[in-house]
This record gives sequence, C-alpha cells and structure tokens, in this order.
Amino acid sequence: MDFFQKSEAAMFFHVLTLFPDMIRDGFTTSILGRAAEKGILSLEAVNIRDYTKSRHKKVDDYPYGGGAGMLMQAQPVYDACQAVIEGIQTRKKTAGEEKVRVIYLTPTGQVFSQQLARELAREEDLIFLCGHYEGIDERVLQRIVTDYVSIGDYVLTGGELPAMVMMDAIARNVPGVLGNEESAQTESFDDGLLEYPQYTRPEIWEGERVPEVLLSGDHAKVEEWRLEKSLAKTKEVRPELYESWAESHQEYFVKKAKKEERLRRKLLKEARKKAEEEHF
Ligand code: ADE
Repeated sequence: MDFFQKSEAAMFFHVLTLFPDMIRDGFTTSILGRAAEKGILSLEAVNIRDYTKSRHKKVDDYPYGGGAGMLMQAQPVYDACQAVIEGIQTRKKTAGEEKVRVIYLTPTGQVFSQQLARELAREEDLIFLCGHYEGIDERVLQRIVTDYVSIGDYVLTGGELPAMVMMDAIARNVPGVLGNEESAQTESFDDGLLEYPQYTRPEIWEGERVPEVLLSGDHAKVEEWRLEKSLAKTKEVRPELYESWAESHQEYFVKKAKKEERLRRKLLKEARKKAEEEHF
C-alpha cells in the first residue's frame, strides 16, 4: 500500500515510473501533499521495474533499426498498467467496463492547457505513464495510451516532472484542494486572459503607491480596472490569446466605444458651455 493511497479520495492519481521516489517526494511538501493527507487526493507511484520478467530487472533495450539511446520495453510497462487498472476495478468493484484515461508524457503530445486540466479534473482516476531514455516501444503505447500530452516545446529527461506539473494543475481544480475556492476561479487563463497585477500592504512601498482605484471601495471600478490590466498584459505578452478573447467578446469593445463616445460628447459640451460663458 502506497503512503498516499486513500480509498475515499475525490481524485486518484496513478503514476507509472522508473523513479517512484521522485513522485512521492514531490507530493510530500506541496499543497498536493496536504490534500493527500486530508484524503481528497490519492497518489499511487508504481515502479515499472517491479513488473519486469527479466532476471536482471532490465526494462530497456536497443532500438531496432539503430539509433542513439535505449527504449523502455513493452512488457513491464504493459503489466504495470494492467496491475493499476485491476487495482482500480477492485476498488470500484467494477470489472472490464472501466475506461481509465492513460496519459503518456511526451514532447510529441498535444500541449497541456488550463482547459485540459479542468477537463481531466472531472475524472476519478488518471494514470500517468512516464517515459525515460529515448522513449517507449510503440506497440505498448498503441495498446494502452489514451492521451499524449506535452508540457511545452522543450525536451526533458523523463516524464516525471511533466506528470507532476499536470497533477498540480489538475488537482487545484478538484473541489477542496485549494483552501479558498475563489482562488481557482480568478486565475490567469480562467477566462482566456492573463491575470491582472495584485497589491497588498503597505499602501506605499519605497515611494510607490498602490493604484488609487484599488483603495476606492468602488467594486465596479476595480473590476473594470482589473479587466483593462488583464487585457493590456495579454495583448503585450500573448497576442494570440488576446485576439481570441477579443473575437469572442466583441460586445465589450462596442460598449467601451459607446462609453468613450458619451464621455467625449460630455467633455465637448462642457467645453462649449465654458467658452460661451467666457465669451459673454
Ligand atoms: N518528456 C520529455 N519532455 C517532455 C515534455 N516537454 N512534455 C512532456 N513529457 C516530456
């Protein structure tokens, strides 16, 4: 029985890896560790090497056709995965019909996103398959993997860090994992924009004041300011995200243009009135 395994958790993570300690250590000191202690999350780190049928505990071999490096062999990966699936079936008292998503961490996968994190948070069980060396025999991938996921356009030495990144992003969408439910709602990417800047005490630090509007107590004004800051940041740093937000929020720009036009007319009217008064 793995240290973090719980039978009543809301979310069960299962990680197939050659480095189970790396996964366990990552869990102990984080918010995920706290959620695991509270029994909201369950983590099972399975050592693929424990499933090898080789006398020398071998799990890798040379690639057919030549090339650099070694590949993880199909048999231990397949057997480790089957053992995890059987464990899930036993826990849930289901047999055969259980369809668990098996995520293979690879730079050739679809790029991980907040949207995928939210989607995966709705699953009860997730199996992460961490590759090492130059990868895994294609035949076992074809047999067991449902999702190929990359955490970005760079190559890491193994799938453990990507699996931890994914578990962190997924878990914070599981109810009860974050202390304050609100904070999962108003983060960057939640509405397709990057987050606005935040400030806390003191009001003046090294001569720099907190923006006046945040001290005004005018909730609508604060919201408007935050949205404008989010838009400006997103436009500058991630123009493609900005464009897609703008496309699906055209009413925002219509409203804004109308508001600006009203303000322009008001100022014009005031200026005319003032000029008339001065003239007579
Ligand atoms: N394994 C190696 N590099 C990776 C990446 N960028 N994403 C997911 N898995 C990986």
